[in-house]
Amino acid sequence: MAARQSIVKDVRDVVRWHVWTRVRPSTRTRVAYELFADDHDATTEGAYINLGYWEPGCSSLEEANEALADQLAQASGMGPGDHLLDVGFGLGAQDFFWWESRRPASITGIDLTPSHVAAAQERAVAEGLTESLSFSEGSATDLPFEAERFDRVTSLESALHYDPRTTFFAEAFRVLKPGGTLAIGDIIPLDLDGERSSTPRLAPQRKGSLSGGMPAANWVPRAVYAEQLEAAGFVDVEVRSIRDRVMEPWLEYWQHKLAEDSFKSSVSRLFYSQVKRSLTSDAGMKGELPALDFVIASARKPTA
Ligand SMILES: C[S@@+](CC[C@H](N)C(=O)[O-])C[C@H]1O[C@@H](n2cnc3c(N)ncnc32)[C@H](O)[C@@H]1O
Repeated sequence: MAARQSIVKDVRDVVRWHVWTRVRPSTRTRVAYELFADDHDATTEGAYINLGYWEPGCSSLEEANEALADQLAQASGMGPGDHLLDVGFGLGAQDFFWWESRRPASITGIDLTPSHVAAAQERAVAEGLTESLSFSEGSATDLPFEAERFDRVTSLESALHYDPRTTFFAEAFRVLKPGGTLAIGDIIPLDLDGERSSTPRLAPQRKGSLSGGMPAANWVPRAVYAEQLEAAGFVDVEVRSIRDRVMEPWLEYWQHKLAEDSFKSSVSRLFYSQVKRSLTSDAGMKGELPALDFVIASARKPTA
């Protein structure tokens, strides 16, 4: 029975891999998150879908995920009374965490993936929070809100997908109140010669799980990222790297996890072998991570 289930999962993986590779790149992000939603369950703990911020002594992915969400909340200056827009909320885990830890007045979430929206909505209903937390389907590049509505806009490990990210910067600027702040946790290429360089270390569109899916226009290192935020009208722009607490510790965590029987038995054989290849060979994520940066960007809309 177990062997039959595994074969069924393998066949399903092959079929959806072919579907995914054939859809237009502009719709691939939505398709990928939808098609691979049940594999997220196996590669996440709790309801987060991010790489995490690994402080010394941290050994659980969920603790690291939450610490990353906390880094972003700090960068945004989020606090009581704020009306927050969270873009690319995934399953909304950080929003439930911020609701408890930061006490904003309201949280509104927008995400492209229907199954993610449904999951976050269900959780808000189950926890009796629908008056304060609302989740709906929509795109970061065309936000369905009037101008100057929010005090804070956040986006955690999602803006790399926006096509292009600069349209999101303009949209975030539009929906923020004067004096409001934008905070983004994002994956970008490391620069070639230190933080002032505008030359990425890795060629655009290199095939890899993290970098391969990014639109070419988003392939900009830190200095250019900051310039793009300023060009959208933001001031007090800061783009700081936290890659040492994100990239390698996350890779190490997963390399250990691969050896666990409970993980092996929770995913299909094909998925397991794809993940293993990606995490242990230079042809996959292991190879692309040294050329990628993880940044926390923060910026403010001027008051006048
Ligand atoms: C890696 S997950 C991060 C989820 C969540 N922020 C977290 O940290 O757990 C990226 C999310 O971005 C969403 N996304 C991708 N492109 C988007 C777009 N253009 N507009 C809104 N959401 C988008 C995906 O559907 C997915 O839920």
